[in-house]
Amino acid sequence: MKSQILNILRSDNKIVSGEELSAALKVSRVSVWKHIQSLQGSGYSIVAGPKGYRLDNSPDALFAWEFPERESSIHYFTETSSTMDAARDLARKGCPHYTIVIAGRQKKGRGRLSRVWLSSEGGLYFTLVLRPDIPSAHASRITFLASVVLAETIRKLYNIDAKVKWPNDILVGGKKISGMLSEMEAEADMVSFINIGIGINLNNDPTAKEPGATSLKKLKGKEFLRKELLSVFLDEFEKRLDTKSFDDVISKWKQYTMTLNQPVKIVTTRDTYEGIAVDVDENGALILKLENGTLQKVVCGDCFQ
Ligand code: BTN
Repeated sequence: MKSQILNILRSDNKIVSGEELSAALKVSRVSVWKHIQSLQGSGYSIVAGPKGYRLDNSPDALFAWEFPERESSIHYFTETSSTMDAARDLARKGCPHYTIVIAGRQKKGRGRLSRVWLSSEGGLYFTLVLRPDIPSAHASRITFLASVVLAETIRKLYNIDAKVKWPNDILVGGKKISGMLSEMEAEADMVSFINIGIGINLNNDPTAKEPGATSLKKLKGKEFLRKELLSVFLDEFEKRLDTKSFDDVISKWKQYTMTLNQPVKIVTTRDTYEGIAVDVDENGALILKLENGTLQKVVCGDCFQ
């Protein structure tokens, strides 16, 4: 209902009477008024006068009704502990492929390797529940696809030279603007679900606790529409997932990466390696040439460069 009201108010861009709205939506004028009040409470500037309603301003809101074609797949929280937790609960209860959990803020945002992901107002924080029909050994390809699509979306929308740092960080001017976290459950070696959590520093101000991080607002000195970035990313990622072919994912990733042919230090839960990052394999594992000339494959770790 709210998406329909907004659609009418936005497309007419003038005063629309309560009568017109109730006829178009086939509900009573009282019901229209209640939805208008609820929208006003959610930050929409809707002026109600004797002739009807006029939408003066919309917040950069990520409510499900702002994505009409996806409304039933979106779970929006103004604040939650972590979208990863909500997405895992939904996935275990059998929610459909491409369910999207979004949060305005996270109290316990999680990063890779048990780190904290500070998630203050203004950033974009979401987790996608995906059910691809692939063996669990190939699951990392999905996260690599997500990082390629996000880098391309940022490049196209904002004309910014976004780079990918192994495995899936997005950096601009050497500073991190986005990170991804994936969690998977499998059955008989096939993916049951893979949840990809993405945090993007858009209009938030990363703190001194995150020295290697920046936000697009900090870089460009203006605010960006979270809704636009999310909706373009979701459309493009869904399209590319549907092609069933991941053949060109790694080659695209190589096109945008800043990691290959560079000296790097990789810290895993067990070891630390130093060498030149010479390649990634078809599942995104990093191939390092160590100082003694041997090749070392690393599947998961932190990359310092
Ligand atoms: C990293 O770079 O360490 C990964 C960061 C992932 C952060 C996102 S924000 C949305 C989702 N919810 C979380 O708690 N974490 C991921």
